[in-house]
Amino acid sequence: MTKVFWFFGRCGAGKTTLAKSLYDALLGQKVPVFYLDGDEMRSGICSDLAYTPEARAENHRRTAEVAKLAAEQGLNVIVSTMAPQYGHRDIVSGVLGERLVWIFVQAPIEVCVQRDPKGLYHRAQTGHLDKLLNFPFDAPRPQESKNTIDTVAHDINGSTKLVRELAELHLGRSRFESK
Ligand SMILES: Nc1ncnc2c1ncn2[C@@H]1O[C@H](COP(=O)(O)OP(=O)(O)O)[C@@H](O)[C@H]1O
Ligand SMILES: [Mg+2]
Repeated sequence: MTKVFWFFGRCGAGKTTLAKSLYDALLGQKVPVFYLDGDEMRSGICSDLAYTPEARAENHRRTAEVAKLAAEQGLNVIVSTMAPQYGHRDIVSGVLGERLVWIFVQAPIEVCVQRDPKGLYHRAQTGHLDKLLNFPFDAPRPQESKNTIDTVAHDINGSTKLVRELAELHLGRSRFESK
């Protein structure tokens, strides 16, 4: 059964960086793979959605449904979204069931603010964006935190290696290495 590797965590934690590195590694091994980044979903399929609780939930439902379609057609799927609330994660796991592998990309808020890859925290601090700094991020539950990548304890190379090992574990080493 193909898998859906769903990277989640705070803005700036390193989701896109690590998701892309896994995508490149799988492609390099000729493993069929499809990548869905939350930002790309937001700018296309979900461009009609706002940031209300209902809209954020719908954003996750649509992303999960697209991932499911691709997975059912034989592709492994890599997704990255914040999935900040339990409700979002419940929607995702309800749609994807056994295929789903959560990967929690962990970094404390202070580190995320310092990295600020998209300048969003700066905009929040200067009053141009509501709710990012105080936005609640529900602490991952046991089933969501089995695969946790601490991106402070591990630099990009170390984190990339851990993610790749996780994928090998779930896809089977021989599958991962097959040409
Ligand atoms: N161990 C690490 N893993 C991933 N990214 C890291 C790590 N250490 C530092 N970074 C940096 O943190 C930033 C994370 O940005 P990004 O991947 O866009 O985050 P997200 O998609 O979670 O918002 C990048 O600038 C990346 O170079
Ligand atoms: Mg990102």
